[in-house]
Amino acid sequence: MQVAIVGCGQLARMLALAGLPMGMRFSFLALPGESTAPVDGLGRVVVATPDLEPTALYEQLGQPQRVTAEKEQLPIALLRGLAPYTEVHPNPEAIYQCQHRLREKATLEACQVPFTPYRAIHEERDLWAAGEALGWPLLLKHTQEGYDGKAQWRLTDEAAARQWLQGPAAGTLGPASGQWLAEPIMPFEREVSLLAVRGREGHITFYDPAQNRHRQGILVSSLAPAPDLPAGLLPQMQAALQRLQTHLDYVGVLAMECFIKGDQWWVNELAPRVHNSGHWSQQTTAASQFENHLRAVAGWPLGDTELQGAAAMLNLLGVPVDQHTMLADGASLNWYNKTVRPDRKVGHIVLRGPALDEVRGKLNKLQSKIYGPDF
Ligand SMILES: Nc1ncnc2c1ncn2[C@@H]1O[C@H](COP(=O)(O)OP(=O)(O)O)[C@@H](O)[C@H]1O
Ligand SMILES: [Mg+2]
Repeated sequence: MQVAIVGCGQLARMLALAGLPMGMRFSFLALPGESTAPVDGLGRVVVATPDLEPTALYEQLGQPQRVTAEKEQLPIALLRGLAPYTEVHPNPEAIYQCQHRLREKATLEACQVPFTPYRAIHEERDLWAAGEALGWPLLLKHTQEGYDGKAQWRLTDEAAARQWLQGPAAGTLGPASGQWLAEPIMPFEREVSLLAVRGREGHITFYDPAQNRHRQGILVSSLAPAPDLPAGLLPQMQAALQRLQTHLDYVGVLAMECFIKGDQWWVNELAPRVHNSGHWSQQTTAASQFENHLRAVAGWPLGDTELQGAAAMLNLLGVPVDQHTMLADGASLNWYNKTVRPDRKVGHIVLRGPALDEVRGKLNKLQSKIYGPDF
């Protein structure tokens, strides 16, 4: 089966690496300006240009039987254009709903899933009203741009808000501009994500929930299964994710990032793709999130997602590869073939063990070895 992946980053790389043993072949669509190093040698790369017609694109991609995507920030017209020629999963409308924070919130509301409160900021007065309603500080997020905590501003008070209006927001506001939203700073105790894969016939399988640690908006590590979730919480989260996938007629892996405080929870955001917080599944489950995403997209039987014991994932952020350190203690290294730049995700390490405490210990040890004790 020939599969085309939109995007050439590490997620495309790891999808291809999971699909090749099942007899899949790959081609990749590079968005303008995108580096293609992570998919070097894994299949043909086509560079998207604005004048490329869907027929020509379909031909150049090698007439794929399936198209999938590794990112949500993509021109949706491109996927819609390919849909008459081949099966696109997840379907373009599902990605369209998730790629804009306001549409995403509306989808969560339609599926009766709890989410972080927000106000849409179209015009200046919306910002002052949001400050009144939600209280300062506010977190201002761009509705479409940003990843790893980028395109977000923490506005401590009205003075900071005035600066933001003259800085990042300058020229972007107007009636129904739809470019920004404001959220309160959520008083969560921890962040947990849940990943589900839905097959072409509607069958859904979950991965264990992961507890995630971020630093300045960037994921540093995940631990699975998320320890000590209050009784009843996981079934609620699973039911919510199932409603979302069914509502979106979704095929493939969908990730749900959540904030948790006591037994309360709110969805922070959705990711219509394989997700960094599920990378531990690569070397700890019979079928990783990458493999299962492709099985779903192809319409093949889904694989086993069960985690025996516990797993951890440590992101490699802006550090050079060093196999002597990174492969010690039975660790698995996944390097993305990217140039190292400060804070850039260039790889990750997967750790496993029979019990959570042991794996957590290994994770802490490895983290201080790589980043120092105060990271
Ligand atoms: N409303 C909020 N309150 C507190 N922390 C937040 C809030 N929204 C986001 N964060 C923090 O910033 C991180 C990145 O924000 P997120 O909305 O997930 O954007 P991104 O698309 O960059 O992942 C989150 O994982 C969380 O740690
Ligand atoms: Mg996020």
